[in-house]
Amino acid sequence: MNAEKTTIPGEGRPGLGAQLLRRKPLDQMVGEAGSDGGGAPLVRSFGVLQLTMISVGATLGTGILVILGESVPLAGPAIWISFVLAGLAALFSAASYAEMAGLVPVAGSSYSYSYATMGEGMAWICGWCLVLEYAVSVAAVAVGAGQYVNETLAGFGQFLPAALSQPPGDGGVVNIPAMAIVLLSMVLLVRGARESARINTAIVVIKVCILLFFCAVAFTAFDAGNFEPLLPMGAAGVSAAASRVFFSYIGFDAASTAGEEARNPKRDLPRAILLSMLIVTSVYVLVAVAAIGARPWGWFDGTEAALVQILQELTGRPWIALVFSAGAVLAIASIVLTVLYGQTRILLSMSRDGLVPPVFGRVSRRTGTPVAGTLIVGTVVAVTAGLVPLGELADATSIGTLFAFALVNVAVVYLRRNRPDLPRSFRVPFYPVTPVLGTLMCAYLMANLGAATWLVFGVWMLVGIAIYVGYGRRHSKVAALSELEYRTLTAKPSTIKETHS
Ligand code: ALA
Repeated sequence: MNAEKTTIPGEGRPGLGAQLLRRKPLDQMVGEAGSDGGGAPLVRSFGVLQLTMISVGATLGTGILVILGESVPLAGPAIWISFVLAGLAALFSAASYAEMAGLVPVAGSSYSYSYATMGEGMAWICGWCLVLEYAVSVAAVAVGAGQYVNETLAGFGQFLPAALSQPPGDGGVVNIPAMAIVLLSMVLLVRGARESARINTAIVVIKVCILLFFCAVAFTAFDAGNFEPLLPMGAAGVSAAASRVFFSYIGFDAASTAGEEARNPKRDLPRAILLSMLIVTSVYVLVAVAAIGARPWGWFDGTEAALVQILQELTGRPWIALVFSAGAVLAIASIVLTVLYGQTRILLSMSRDGLVPPVFGRVSRRTGTPVAGTLIVGTVVAVTAGLVPLGELADATSIGTLFAFALVNVAVVYLRRNRPDLPRSFRVPFYPVTPVLGTLMCAYLMANLGAATWLVFGVWMLVGIAIYVGYGRRHSKVAALSELEYRTLTAKPSTIKETHS
């Protein structure tokens, strides 16, 4: 393409088509990391443990605690196969995330990877999908907190009235527990990333322990007969459930938003992403097998909070259910904490590129965190979680996430073909089979989601396009580069340097 011809005469900016295809030069992206104009750089304090815990913290929660029970009637005893299928789509994509995170260890996750490979148009779409994956999903997850807070309070003979624990439309006025969890997480994140990571690590240990405890109790009542017949709802039921439980895997990519706060991102990010996937998938399959082993699949139909019920029935001790419910509240809190964190870092990257307002990119010298961005994101998410019943929107988070994952798989293939010279600290094994399968599986799971979910997704994308045309297109820094600057930067052989200290 002759880019000169696509420049708007007199304006010096590329025309829309050329702007959508403009890629952010990799060297510029890596060079910007940690040297944000006007503010302080983010603080590099995370090692592989904290990064892994960020990903596990963002992933393990509502999906296994609530959606497992709701999905058993769809798949029957083969629900564990649905978890494996969804896990494979996530695992293949995780390998691609690991390669990209080792190559471009900045804060923007798949948004940045798309910008470097497929251009501004795809990057914006990806970033907008990430808002679904992060901000909207965290509001959806926090909405569920009201139920668990009530379960916990019930152990003390107390209840929050529905008016204060449900949003309007679900029989209440405002979901106070959901808002409280979001606002508390926001305050922690403003104070410092390192403190937040410490608290998150402690909570992750607790939530893994309560799930393992569940398995230990459930296996005492294990009945292999519950697994027959394995496929009462056929293969279609297993696929439908796989799309549903994919929600449980959302968040494993959160470590990739910490690229600028990792001490040794090139080495540790790929490790953390893959390790967290391994931990999460093992726990999910174990819990699913334990739950089905303990109760026949028909029992799950119409049973609320299935895991708590199983525990209560098997042990006969209400305090055990109380401990489990309290653990569930904590599990939700750590998802909120880490996912809010991820959203603020993605917006920071987008703001650095001019696609969202500069306020999201300002890092405070005092705390080393994007304070204003965190306050804005936290407040918007808190209000959403408090006031909006998020049913369909929550399902739409899966479709947006699957789309973003597919883009990362494509980005790996693109860069292997076009920039084989770049130094990669991690290489996807069995290339190109893994990223191709990853893309196909994401597309397959997307196709399985219902028409209503696609409709919500379509409307979401239209809103995103309107915001891009109204703001991002005019403020994009890559578009503001002169043709000569852009060509010089993109033609330059890579000198990507190690970003860790
Ligand atoms: N993966 C997250 C959960 O299961 C969103 O709650």
